[in-house]
Amino acid sequence: MAQDDNGGSDLAAADSSAVELVRAGDPGTAVLLQDPVENPGFPPHRKRVTDKDPKKNKRAERTVYTLFYLSIVGSIWAIAAYMLFPIESNVGQVRANTLFIGLGIALALLALGFGAVHWGKALMADHEGIDVRHPVEGTPATQARAVEIFQQANEESGFGRRTLIRNSLIGALVAFPLPAVVLFRGLGPQNQNPADLLRHTMWKKGTRLTKDPSGVPIKASDVTLGSVFHVIPEGLNDREDMLEQKAKAAVLLMRLKPTDLHVSPERKNWNYDGIVAYSKICTHVGCPVALYEQQTHHLLCPCHQSQFDITHEAEVIFGPAKRPLPQLPITVDADGYLVARSDFHEPVGPSFWERH
Ligand code: FES
Repeated sequence: MAQDDNGGSDLAAADSSAVELVRAGDPGTAVLLQDPVENPGFPPHRKRVTDKDPKKNKRAERTVYTLFYLSIVGSIWAIAAYMLFPIESNVGQVRANTLFIGLGIALALLALGFGAVHWGKALMADHEGIDVRHPVEGTPATQARAVEIFQQANEESGFGRRTLIRNSLIGALVAFPLPAVVLFRGLGPQNQNPADLLRHTMWKKGTRLTKDPSGVPIKASDVTLGSVFHVIPEGLNDREDMLEQKAKAAVLLMRLKPTDLHVSPERKNWNYDGIVAYSKICTHVGCPVALYEQQTHHLLCPCHQSQFDITHEAEVIFGPAKRPLPQLPITVDADGYLVARSDFHEPVGPSFWERH
C-alpha cells in the first residue's frame, strides 16, 4: 500500500487519528478525514530480497528494462509484419499476416505488462501505509471554493468571454474525429453500394456446388444419407475477391431422408431428393455455422450457440439468432452434378441497415 501523500501514516499510528481532521490553512479544499482503518493485526513488514541485496536490485532493474525493450521490439515487429505479409486474396497470406502481427502485439503487451508488474513488485517503494477514507461530499467551504475556482478559471481563460475562440475550439473538437470516418469509409467497397453487395452472392442459375476448399464439383450421388459437405460456388478460387465472395457464398450441404423434410409449398423444388443446401453464415452476427448433428439434423453455431433445425427449413430453435438460415435452391445438371437454381432469395448473414 502506498504512503498517502496527504498525511497518511504508519499502520501503528492509524488508530490515533480516529478524529475529525480539517487540513489547516487550506479551507478551500479541506475535507473531513475520519474513521481511519485500524491495523487488523498484520505481521511485521518484511523487506524484499531486492531491498537487502544491491546485486539483486540491479538484476531486477535489468530485467525490467529488458522487458520494456522487448516490448518495443514486439511493436516494431508488428508494424514490420503488416508490411512483410500483406493481405492478398490468398488464405495463406491472410493467416501469415494475422499470425505475425498477433505475435508482435502479444509480445509487446506481455513484455510491457510483465515489466510493469515486476517493476512495481521488486523495485518500487515497499513501505506500507494507509489512505485515509473520507466522505465523498466536501464541506460547504469546499463546495464554495470549487465554484470559486471554476469561476476564476472561466474568467482567466476567457472561455465564456471570448466566444470566437470558444466556438472555434468546439468546432475543431467536433471536426477532429471526421478524418477517421473518411478513413474507415476507405475500407469499404469503392463506387459501389455496400447494401447491394451484401444482398447478392456469387450463386446464380447453373453454378455448380463444389467442395471447399478444393473446388471439385459434387455429384448428387456423392452425398450419402447423413453426410455433410462444406461448399463453395464453382469458380470462386479463381476470383480476385475470393475472400469477400466466400464470406457470403459459403454453404452447407446435407442429405436427409426426403420424408424427414418439412417443406413449404414455395420451396417444393429447392431440395434434390433430400439434399438441401443452406447458407453457412449465421444470421446472428455472421459466424460460420459449421457443426451438424447428424441424429437430430440440427446445425449449431459455435459462437453463441444458435441452433437451426434443418428438417424445418433451418428455423431457429435456440440461441440469439432471429432468422432461419437462407436456403439455396438446388437441382442437378445433365451430368448429375449439383447446381444452384438461383442465388439465395434473401440476403445471407446478419441484419444490416438496408435489409428488407
Ligand atoms: S454468430 Fe451464430 S449465434 Fe452468434
